[in-house]
Amino acid sequence: MRCRKCDHKAVINMRQHKLALCKEHFPQWVMEQTERFIRKYRMFERHERLLVAVSGGKDSLSLWDILWRLGYQADGVYIGLGIDGGISYSDTSQRLTEQFAAQRGLQLHVVDIQEEYGSTIPQIANLTYRGQGKPCSVCGLTKRHVMNRVAHQGAYDVLVTGHNLDDEAAMLLGNTLTWNAGYLLRQAPVLPALQGMARKAKPLCRFYEREMAAYALVSGIEYIYDECPHAAGTKSIYYKGLLNQLEEERPGAKLSFYLSFLQAKENGLFNEVFSTGGEADDLTGAGGVAMHPCPTCGQPTTTPAECAFCRMMAKVTR
Ligand code: AMP
Ligand code: FES
Ligand code: ZN
Ligand code: ZN
Repeated sequence: MRCRKCDHKAVINMRQHKLALCKEHFPQWVMEQTERFIRKYRMFERHERLLVAVSGGKDSLSLWDILWRLGYQADGVYIGLGIDGGISYSDTSQRLTEQFAAQRGLQLHVVDIQEEYGSTIPQIANLTYRGQGKPCSVCGLTKRHVMNRVAHQGAYDVLVTGHNLDDEAAMLLGNTLTWNAGYLLRQAPVLPALQGMARKAKPLCRFYEREMAAYALVSGIEYIYDECPHAAGTKSIYYKGLLNQLEEERPGAKLSFYLSFLQAKENGLFNEVFSTGGEADDLTGAGGVAMHPCPTCGQPTTTPAECAFCRMMAKVTR
């Protein structure tokens, strides 16, 4: 397979785009596409301060690398979850993230959950009803809370995450199977700022996971290869598997599923004002949902009382 641009050996063949590129032209293409998506969805501008949530995985480190190369002002935040799972998952991802930032002279905020809240994520999961054998829901809730807090305290304009197309398509499939209108409304490449919460953006939302793995590899980015040890058996992994089967037979199916959803929303599919029918973890105020500041942490929430994170932490410290 030859590169479409220079005829050198291709490192990746993207069937859905009918495009093969070499090790020089592929990273260039990824950067150009990212810039295009940032503009198309009006995610942010060069004068704005970005906070990139970095996990030490291929997506978020590649994203930070791309934004840095494109000349955006991007600091990072790493959240130490205290997950070991026999592979020192958190220690390794922290080391790789710190190494990445040091190599490029980038500023990294590190928040250690155990230091800050007295317990690791698996411990908090054991102490609360949200645990139910798996720490993933506790983990998601805590990460979102901490990211929002660091972004707000640091007066960042935008909180940027490394969600790729596979993540977004799996989330979309899950929300569609249950027709969760509240979540579908809030699933977007960019979400506006709310009182107490920075704007959120996902510049990689149109890249396949394998494209991001290839970008990290070609760019010599050292990232943690292992998945979180708690990820096995989750719904998200199951949906990703289903979508991969679909993609195998119909190249481009995943991208078309996601893009048609965005198009349908733009065409007014969700113009009706929905009520979310309960408290959500990731609040944007979309769809006219009334928001209140949490009396304990100040972050916006749909309940007039404490937010889900503060209620959970009250159980842990009791
Ligand atoms: P996940 O929720 O693990 O699918 O990750 C989605 C995105 O959240 C990643 O691309 C990162 O931007 C961010 N993220 C995940 N884990 C962490 C972490 N430990 N610290 C900071 N950001 C994270
Ligand atoms: Fe949070 Fe796995 S439980 S990353
Ligand atoms: Zn080439
Ligand atoms: Zn709160």
